[in-house]
Amino acid sequence: MESAKNYFDYAAATPLLPEVLVSMEPYLKDKFYNASGLYLGAKTNYQAIVEARHVIARGLGAKPTEIVFTAGGSEANNLAIRGIMESYPSSNMIVSSIEHESVLRPSNLFATKTVKVDKQGVVKLDDLKSKIDKKTVLVSIMYANNEIGSIQPIRKIAKLIKEIRQSRESKGNQTPIYLHSDACQAGNFLDMQVFKLGVDLLTINSGKIYGPKQCGALYVKTGLILKPLIFGGGQEWGLRSGTENIANIVGFATAWQKVRSNYHEEAERLTIIRDNFISKNLTPVVFQLNGPKSTNRLANNIHITIDGKDNEIMAMVLDEKGFQVAIGSACSASSEEPSHVLKAIGLTDEQARSSLRITLGFYTTDKSLENLGKTLNKLVAPN
Ligand SMILES: Cc1ncc(COP(=O)(O)O)c(C=O)c1O
Repeated sequence: MESAKNYFDYAAATPLLPEVLVSMEPYLKDKFYNASGLYLGAKTNYQAIVEARHVIARGLGAKPTEIVFTAGGSEANNLAIRGIMESYPSSNMIVSSIEHESVLRPSNLFATKTVKVDKQGVVKLDDLKSKIDKKTVLVSIMYANNEIGSIQPIRKIAKLIKEIRQSRESKGNQTPIYLHSDACQAGNFLDMQVFKLGVDLLTINSGKIYGPKQCGALYVKTGLILKPLIFGGGQEWGLRSGTENIANIVGFATAWQKVRSNYHEEAERLTIIRDNFISKNLTPVVFQLNGPKSTNRLANNIHITIDGKDNEIMAMVLDEKGFQVAIGSACSASSEEPSHVLKAIGLTDEQARSSLRITLGFYTTDKSLENLGKTLNKLVAPN
């Protein structure tokens, strides 16, 4: 794709794959029917949703009845948090200090404790353990961070929560404890089998995996009861009322199938070209790499601080030269504040304002990275 040649902001948005668009088109044209209708065309559309739900569920190792389609990652995160916490008014929940705003904002509506991360942006398990008390009902820790790409130890967290659950049960404490993970950034690269991860709720996002935006899903483990955010006609098991966006749902399933069928290979490819780019172009004295070194980091993520350089100016100059990158506070519509994620890993406000996020994807090649590397080095070269 020519327009994506020098695009380095895949964590913000991924281009729609051609086959995704093809799968969506009929539902934007002739097959416009409301899936709740009783005529054949409507029933066929309903069937398309059923099939899409199966595709997503299969990839997660879940049951179709455990999938709730939403209008994106933010809505799924809100549904998970408010859906649980509104049923337990005198309880508390826990989040990490590097969650996306769509987790942090709804968590602020409830009593919430914040778990620290280490300098690489990985949750401190000891801190998490010490913060869970007998009233904790929900722990929400993202699978992978959207700014610095740090991958969180979800299986270890799930194990801890399982032990707490068992201990509560043995003491006759009826308070449940659930684990939610925002996996919006994980879909292209990581294992997503919910039974292996041990999560009770998982947010996934179509717009980050080459599917349409404003589409995503929440995995909700069987037996878990959520309060809906949106009431109405009772679609999506009564958890997300409103006429289904069939084109988006079908496109999401097409993208999911494509991406999940070779995520290992793509992760490997990007890791190689990314590490090559870093070692060839990013001299440590000039470019400080933020986040984990290699293993605990998303394959497509590069996050750097260039001391003394204003990131907004750098991003604009790069844009003029045809390269699209993100600044520290990307992923929110507007924010004057330096990124809370960068501050959580110990960067000063000034360093946060001198940081760039470069994220790679399907159309990134060695060549495109080489061009970016040359341009970046010219930018930082003393005049
Ligand atoms: C980790 C994470 N969670 C949630 C979201 C929100 O997703 P959406 O914009 O689809 O609502 C994003 C989007 O950038 C994200 O990166």
